[in-house]
Amino acid sequence: MIPAEISAAATDLASDGWVKVGRVQDLPVLEGRRTTIEGRRVAVFRLLDGLAAIDATCPHKAGPLQDGLVADNCVTCPLHDRRIDLSTGQMIGYDDAVAVHEVHQHGDEVWVRLSQVPQTPTEAERAGLQAPAAV
Ligand code: FES
Repeated sequence: MIPAEISAAATDLASDGWVKVGRVQDLPVLEGRRTTIEGRRVAVFRLLDGLAAIDATCPHKAGPLQDGLVADNCVTCPLHDRRIDLSTGQMIGYDDAVAVHEVHQHGDEVWVRLSQVPQTPTEAERAGLQAPAAV
């Protein structure tokens, strides 16, 4: 659970699994950017009222979710227009989902802590068409 407020110094955050991924001013409103944490691709979005972080790889056909359009707390995958809820990671109308990560703004810094949910294999990976990405 993301604390309502973190009063510890940023260096203390790092000791608790939080990773500084950038500055909020580098994230345009209603856009996403990709970062890599411990080998895991994570898409971080700046919303009208906060931030969101999910796995960056679409579970359908591995589309780059950080490049999708953001509206109504969802991102639309740029490859086939499936929508993913940024709060739950659920693909709207499908069984697929991506992991949702904790994200917090500390001053102008954006911090992410990975969830322990394994990265969801893409449809192609499930079909055995390629090896799962290293986590
Ligand atoms: S790859 Fe994302 S909807 Fe197809």
